[in-house]
This record gives sequence, structure tokens and C-alpha cells, in this order.
Amino acid sequence: MALQVNGRTHRLEMDARTTLLDALREHIGLTGAKKGCDHGQCGACTVLVDGRRELSCLTLAVSVGEREVTTIEGLAEPGGDLHPMQQAFIDRDAFQCGYCTPGQILSAIGCVREGHAATPEAIREYMSGNICRCAAYPNIVAAVMQARDQVEGG
Ligand code: FES
Ligand code: FES
Repeated sequence: MALQVNGRTHRLEMDARTTLLDALREHIGLTGAKKGCDHGQCGACTVLVDGRRELSCLTLAVSVGEREVTTIEGLAEPGGDLHPMQQAFIDRDAFQCGYCTPGQILSAIGCVREGHAATPEAIREYMSGNICRCAAYPNIVAAVMQARDQVEGG
């Protein structure tokens, strides 16, 4: 099967039961998407599929088909310039251990595109699918507020 990830086509031979998360991590070598629970309860595996956030641990790779998958590795410009949401997370100190962070950043982009970033309350509610044990939540809200006007489609 083929997966479209970050603008590239990857041809893979995998068991049909392989999740998108394991396909990314084990078969393509993109380890930015993290496995915190593998049961859809933590959000560390969040990626964008055709621009919308999805939990890659609950998505079978074969079900993605021709749709475009974006992982944290695909956000920065080829020249290295960070995506505004990545920069905002740094500016606002919105992570500590960094394990939840790829999922938080992709989820934050999805949150803005969905129109759920108008207020701190909305951001908290619509980012609540991403757990952070380091409790960076206030700074994550600040980062989303900083970057929301620069996120395309937001
Ligand atoms: S690893 Fe997918 S939600 Fe936790
Ligand atoms: S930064 Fe450590 S879990 Fe969120």
C-alpha cells in the first residue's frame, strides 16, 4: 500500500492491522508522533489527515488511502523556518518533557482551523483531548492564542 505523508509517497508492505501510528513510527521512521496510550485517550499520537486532526492510534493505515497525512516533521518549511504554532510553543514555554508536544501542536492547528480558538475557554475545551502530564496547559493556551491568526485556514 501507499501512504502520502508530508508531501511524499511511501510504498509500504504491512499487515492490514497496522495502525497509522505504527506505520509512521515503525515503517516510515517518523517518530515524532508519540504513543502515550494506544487507546485513543491521550492525544499524543494526533496527526492531521487532509488537514483535520485524527488520533493515529485509532486509525488503520489502510483506511487513510490517498489522503494526505501531516506529522510534526512536516510542519517546518524546507528551509527550516518553524510553523507559527511551533514557534509559539517555544515562545510561550508550552512544553516541558516534550512527549505530548507533537500531538498538542498538530491538535492546536486543527483547533484553530475548526474555529474553536476564539477564547481561552474554547481553546481549553477543544484541546482537552490532548493530555499533558507536565501540566503546561496555561502556556499551551497562550501559545494557541499567539499563533491562531497566523494559521492558514484559521
Ligand atoms: S496514543 Fe493515541 S490517543 Fe494515546
Ligand atoms: S510536556 Fe510533558 S506531557 Fe506535556
